Amino acid sequence: MRPTALAQLRYSVEPERLEEGSFAAEVVAGLSATPKRLSPKFFYDSTGSDLFERITELPEYYPTRCELSILRERAGEIAALIPPGAALIEFGSGSSMKTRTLLDAARTLAAYVPVDISAEFLDAQADSLRREYPSIAMLPKAADFGGPFDLPEAAENMPRAGFFPGSTIGNLEPPEAAAFLRQAGRILGPGAVFVVGVDLIKDEKVLHKAYNDSAGITAAFNRNLLVRMNRELGANFDVASFEHHAFFNRELHRIEMHLASLKRQRISVCGTSVEFRAGETIHTENSYKYTADSFQCLARGTGWSPVTVWTDAKKYFSVHVLKLAGEAARRALT
Ligand code: SAH
Ligand code: AVI
Repeated sequence: MRPTALAQLRYSVEPERLEEGSFAAEVVAGLSATPKRLSPKFFYDSTGSDLFERITELPEYYPTRCELSILRERAGEIAALIPPGAALIEFGSGSSMKTRTLLDAARTLAAYVPVDISAEFLDAQADSLRREYPSIAMLPKAADFGGPFDLPEAAENMPRAGFFPGSTIGNLEPPEAAAFLRQAGRILGPGAVFVVGVDLIKDEKVLHKAYNDSAGITAAFNRNLLVRMNRELGANFDVASFEHHAFFNRELHRIEMHLASLKRQRISVCGTSVEFRAGETIHTENSYKYTADSFQCLARGTGWSPVTVWTDAKKYFSVHVLKLAGEAARRALT
């Protein structure tokens, strides 16, 4: 038997026996659906996390630079909103590069809880943070922030503040974003402050370039999903026969990323055979863009009260301060 056929046999499982919510189960369900789709949370294995870091350094990828400029300017004001002895909980922390701006400014912070799905990458970042900030307890939590998870025990009795930068909220469908904001409210608790970075609707050419960089790093980030399925699930994607597509969908104000099959082909994953027509795509990511008002409206609907919103000089990116208070918060939390 050929080695690839052997590997496929090893990973071959009846779809109903795959663990619910696992990478394998979601891949089989997503590639069996019409149109084919996969959740962007699966981009982030260690290679995906490294590739995302390279994206943040690209000249075309404005969000990181714009958000960092806002955070640097407002770090003192944000720090003043965080109660002494608090734990700062960050959802989708990645390299925690932007968080360092807050850790430097918030002198009375007791703990930092970076929450991320990319477990190995998270642990490596936590080791560096421990060396850089010996007086702050570093309590990493490997978890999917879209589902229920417990905070580390050491943070349980501390007041909490939340941080969700990067416009990662834009990678959630609007109803998922609302559900996430509600769940963040339950985790952070009454009276908490939540700082959320949100990318803004802007000139389509700027948006298009940010997701179609000339060095091809975003394309590699997108294609890494195929590499990951081959390695972890014994799939047999010919990576070179899929092309990166990214475009702005004007009606839904979102960037869509797809992997388009360059030819008619059949692949196998976990014993499931998947047919592709030439040109057929796997929809791998949406990146919703908001206005300051449309995001505040979404937040209000989930019990969060907008306190302030800041933008950068070009008005490309926004950083919102939300607070969980009053009757709306009580209703959202019950
Ligand atoms: N906050 C960083 C990184 C943003 S990239 C910044 O602003 O630059 C998005 C991050 O969210 C990645 O580190 C990814 O691993 C993480 N992530 C994506 N979906 C996730 C999920 N469902 N649960 C937990 N982490 C997730
Ligand atoms: C993490 N997230 C907000 C990024 C974005 O812009 O939607 C992921 C990304 N996808 C392609 N480039 C960057």
